[in-house]
Amino acid sequence: MLPCGILEWGVGTNNELEGKLTMKWLGVILLSMTTAIAAHGAVTKAVFGTMPDGKTVDVYTLKSDQVEAKVMTLGARVLSIRTADRDGKMADVVLGYSALDGYLDDQKTYFGAVVGRYGNRIANGAFKIDGHEYHVPVNNNGQSLHGGLVGFDKHVWEAKEIPGGVEMTLVSPDGDQGYPGTLTAHVKYTLTHGALRIDYSESTDKPTVVNLTNHTYFNLSGDAQSTILDHEVMLAADHYTPVNTVLIPTGELAPVAGTPFDFRKSTAIGARIDADNEQLKIAGGYDHNWVLNGKSGELKLAARVVDPKSGRVLTVTTTEPGVQFYTGNFLTGDKFGKAAEGNPKRSGFCLETQHFPDSPNHPAFPTTLLRPGVVRHSTTIFTFSTQK
Ligand code: GLA
Repeated sequence: MLPCGILEWGVGTNNELEGKLTMKWLGVILLSMTTAIAAHGAVTKAVFGTMPDGKTVDVYTLKSDQVEAKVMTLGARVLSIRTADRDGKMADVVLGYSALDGYLDDQKTYFGAVVGRYGNRIANGAFKIDGHEYHVPVNNNGQSLHGGLVGFDKHVWEAKEIPGGVEMTLVSPDGDQGYPGTLTAHVKYTLTHGALRIDYSESTDKPTVVNLTNHTYFNLSGDAQSTILDHEVMLAADHYTPVNTVLIPTGELAPVAGTPFDFRKSTAIGARIDADNEQLKIAGGYDHNWVLNGKSGELKLAARVVDPKSGRVLTVTTTEPGVQFYTGNFLTGDKFGKAAEGNPKRSGFCLETQHFPDSPNHPAFPTTLLRPGVVRHSTTIFTFSTQK
């Protein structure tokens, strides 16, 4: 009926009922075609800048009917995400720089980056696999942070367009930053309506540890100079992992109940951030891993954040067992790049879906060990909407 209807319409029919039916079918087809285009979104590629070694950095723009996201090949970084507020006004809701030199000058924030091989910290930059001890660079208070001195955020990834998005690939050679095994990492960004989906996959040729995450800082107000203290956050976690003075988990899974870490009911970030609490003092605010309720490996709700002023809402779902909720405590307003762009303290928050920090040294934590022959997959979805 369907193709025949089109043919009949194409050549003209004088049967009135048939004509109405074929017009209706054509409408359905056209509607589903536009939905498919909108669902998948359009993808365009342009040059973002040139690295000091002459390598080109590309930017991919993903556009759906609701969101426009830009992702660049340096660090597979999210550059911008434009979404509507409750009145339909579009604004960029992530922190970043307008030009490449901002990212090259800034060695501290990891704005928008895929961090790896190991997102967050490894105690003393040391861990054992099968009895063999490995050492990775210590770049943060004697600990290894976000993959070491030249982590995945500093590499230009290979990129190719895929339906509705872009797939980035990085091959990290055996011994890169002290980590064993050639690690091949693929990160796919796809945009569907209000949802930016990130699919990670990794494989290795020797046993290694891996913990990739995305380090985007959000400010749902669209004003990167304002703080996020009035944003209201819900975290789907009954427990978190307390840290020692250098932000390494003690190994305990502590209940959030009765502490400023209880975000099971939506609460303003600023409501308790400066409370008289040892853990908050150590980190200068929130910079901890929450143990997500539900099964690791299954897509589940991790977080929901509301900006009451703009009405923008961010919902995070993930297959990862944890999320690092970081409130931009180390942002200092320092200016980077030619445009001299800087971001004040607590002007952005991160929801870094991940395995727990320092897992290689905590056998009781979900394992980050990856062996040859296995492909590790994980997915995180950032969904943007609004509320009154
Ligand atoms: C993570 C860490 C923080 C900080 C930021 C980057 O969120 O947990 O301590 O290092 O990255 O500044």
